Amino acid sequence: MEKIRVNLKKTEDRSYEILIGEDILKKIPLDLKNEKNIYHCLIISDSNVASLYGDVLLKQCTNSGLNSHLISFPAGEIHKNRDTKSRIEDEMSKLKIGRDSCVIALGGGVVGDVAGFVAATYNRGIPYIQAPTTLVASVDSSIGGKTGVDTLYGKNLIGAFYQPWRVYIDVNTLKTLHEKEIREGLAEVIKYGVIKDEKLFEYLERNIDHIFSFNADALIHIIKRGCEIKGQVVELDEKESNLRKILNFGHTIGHAIEYISDYKISHGEAISMGMVTEVKIALELGFWKLDECERLVSLFKRTGLPTKLPDSLDLSRMIDTMKLDKKARGGKIEMVLPRKIGEMVEVDGSYGIKIEEGLIRRILDLD
Ligand SMILES: NC(=O)c1ccc[n+]([C@@H]2O[C@H](COP(=O)([O-])OP(=O)(O)OC[C@H]3O[C@@H](n4cnc5c(N)ncnc54)[C@H](O)[C@@H]3O)[C@@H](O)[C@H]2O)c1
Ligand SMILES: [Zn+2]
Repeated sequence: MEKIRVNLKKTEDRSYEILIGEDILKKIPLDLKNEKNIYHCLIISDSNVASLYGDVLLKQCTNSGLNSHLISFPAGEIHKNRDTKSRIEDEMSKLKIGRDSCVIALGGGVVGDVAGFVAATYNRGIPYIQAPTTLVASVDSSIGGKTGVDTLYGKNLIGAFYQPWRVYIDVNTLKTLHEKEIREGLAEVIKYGVIKDEKLFEYLERNIDHIFSFNADALIHIIKRGCEIKGQVVELDEKESNLRKILNFGHTIGHAIEYISDYKISHGEAISMGMVTEVKIALELGFWKLDECERLVSLFKRTGLPTKLPDSLDLSRMIDTMKLDKKARGGKIEMVLPRKIGEMVEVDGSYGIKIEEGLIRRILDLD
């Protein structure tokens, strides 16, 4: 037998900048020309965002001398699939998009995930920009390089880790969002406060009304902290071997709620209930103090997010779903739990804590 080894030590620098401000989308064309040597740009967006911001950006790109196109697909999670991806790819081939091109993912998390995945595989990878236009995308999906699509068998089952060239967060685009979409994003920002930053949590307690009135300074502040926290965590553990798991706070229970409600309960609502329930588990295990638990519940209530599980929830289905979760290990349910606002529990160097099924049943039953 002959044995040959192919050595592939990664030395490539995949660092990138996140720019946050008002009216910054218009910077994209010149930055692409001056810093990236790009001649073609392809804006990928959904049907809502294309008409709100896509056409304007397309004009700006074209006026700057870039050969530019806009491809949009129907809005909604249901279109985050392989079909949409291949249709975009075929259009790109027709437009002769090549290696000297850059994709601009302009939209919410759905657009970011699909367009990022397209960029990851088209011509074996071309550069892309994340230009998030929802709060969820600004503080969560545009950072970390997870891209992908859903299949009939589940969400985000096919995808790739692929980092953008740069992220442009234009807070002015958030002004056309419905209040519900702001709440969705705030659920993740509150999560960041609990897992890493008590000051951010306090800021939210003081400024929640300013955020709902689209005060640019307040939005920039929470987005900046959200990006810093997610960015630091991802930097230290890109492939989720330990630290990155803390981003899943509230998500073990949250994902199960979302799934068994047939996605009628939104992600933000589900993880809010999930965070409160997981804190109750932390409390039961002696990790967390009661007064702070009430602080968390009160902030969720002011944000308009639910804190109590629906009565109709089937306990056994909840447990079964959690056991099948990607995060479960050998059929054991794993969670990350906070010690207090701003700090997560680490047991023997690991953030993922295996939780006894009986305890979860008891807490879910009490709710
Ligand atoms: N890759 C990751 O790490 C990651 C992290 C979190 C979430 N996600 C994914 O993100 C998706 C959810 O993202 P989302 O909440 O942004 O949903 P979304 O992309 O579906 O956007 C929500 C709705 O808002 C509309 N919209 C977007 N921007 C708008 C604007 N500025 N004004 C008016 N309407 C606007 C969209 O057309 C859509 O109808 C899910 O698919 C989820 O799996 C990915
Ligand atoms: Zn989430």
